[in-house]
Amino acid sequence: MPKRINFGKLIEKQLPAELVNFMWVAGEIAHTRGEKLYLVGGVVRDLLLGQANLDLDLVVEGNAIELAQQLKKINKGKITTHPRFNTAKLQWDNWSVDLATARSETYDKPGALPTVKPSSIDDDLSRRDFTINAMAIGLNPGYYGRPVDPHGGRDDLKSKLIRVLHGQSFTDDATRIWRGLRYEQRLDFHLERKTLKLLQRDIPMLDTISADRIRYEVECILKEKYPEKVFRRAEELEVLPKLHPALKGNGWLAERFEQARKLSFPALPEVGLYLALLAYPLTSEETERLISRLRLPKSLAQNLRDTIALKGKMRLLATPGLSPSGIYRLLAPYSSPAMVANSLATESPAASQNIHMYLTRLKYIEISLTGDDLMRLGVAPGPHIREIIELLHKARLDGKITSKQDEVDLVKGWLAAKQMK
Ligand code: CTP
Repeated sequence: MPKRINFGKLIEKQLPAELVNFMWVAGEIAHTRGEKLYLVGGVVRDLLLGQANLDLDLVVEGNAIELAQQLKKINKGKITTHPRFNTAKLQWDNWSVDLATARSETYDKPGALPTVKPSSIDDDLSRRDFTINAMAIGLNPGYYGRPVDPHGGRDDLKSKLIRVLHGQSFTDDATRIWRGLRYEQRLDFHLERKTLKLLQRDIPMLDTISADRIRYEVECILKEKYPEKVFRRAEELEVLPKLHPALKGNGWLAERFEQARKLSFPALPEVGLYLALLAYPLTSEETERLISRLRLPKSLAQNLRDTIALKGKMRLLATPGLSPSGIYRLLAPYSSPAMVANSLATESPAASQNIHMYLTRLKYIEISLTGDDLMRLGVAPGPHIREIIELLHKARLDGKITSKQDEVDLVKGWLAAKQMK
């Protein structure tokens, strides 16, 4: 038996006073409504692990929307409701709390979203993915701090195990395959033996999951501290080919992700940069398949296309003696994350230096004269304007001119040469 833990104390020790007070009040109000309120899921797991998590998920045996509306009157927050699932989100100051009605779920067909029915906390915990995520803490007066752990979550936390609650878990919802790998790698746990077998058995079920749900899982992985660990494990268990057979979760990727983190520090690398590095080994056709498997939004899709297209230009970009304007011409069509990904991925220090020069200097170089200025100097309106602007920009990039006066002189010279023709 796990030793007795005072969950009330744990909450007070680890969560900010504002949230602790909120939960107290919410528990009191639920009580007066004759409902039972619980803190559930990831935050309970993280409280027990001593890890920071401010994403409060509350479950009420009753009516979450009505309870949220009553709570909103107290903390003057904003409320967003989803009547179909009877859930609500409360937001005030910098805080956000999710409130759901305890529910049972049945899956009509694998991979589809479940049919839900209001139910008890036990049923609500039984519908969840892993034992360590299927624990709750009572918040009502008289129940405050009481743990609800019907599936042995605390034992599994101690043994560092990721365990499903039943044999159909991955069939019902194959996104749990990715979730399982994510928790295993984040927490340094292991998939429990039978869970691992079920996971491997159900890998084909990933084909039942919509692009949007798979993309969400990939985004969650990319927000982890070390996403490469999840991809490595996914390759080892042959889950990664379900994203695309040519993807690699190897040491090369790990090194590049590490470099991307160093470069972006203290922020985390943008999703676009991580994705570009992940997709780097792919051909253009393979990239298109990955884009549609994940139904990537336009800008992320373009970023991957840019990455792969630019990969094909890296030899040119490494040409010795390439002028700054030549570098500019090669790189300007591509997105910044595509350039950064290529600079991290290339074996050519020269190409990488040229990308660095573009991103830190060349892309900011502008000319001073406007189209109106050019016309005042005597350039005829029409295609010549564009031609001269490009000429001035090129001369600026290559350091041949450095001031507005230089630009004026260059335009005058150009006009004089034109007249002599
Ligand atoms: N859940 C589930 N099956 C899923 C998704 C979620 O059972 N496919 C349950 C789990 O109990 C999980 C809770 O819903 O704890 C909340 O989901 P989510 O916010 O995705 O997970 P967290 O546990 O909060 O994880 P994280 O720390 O990654 O945010």
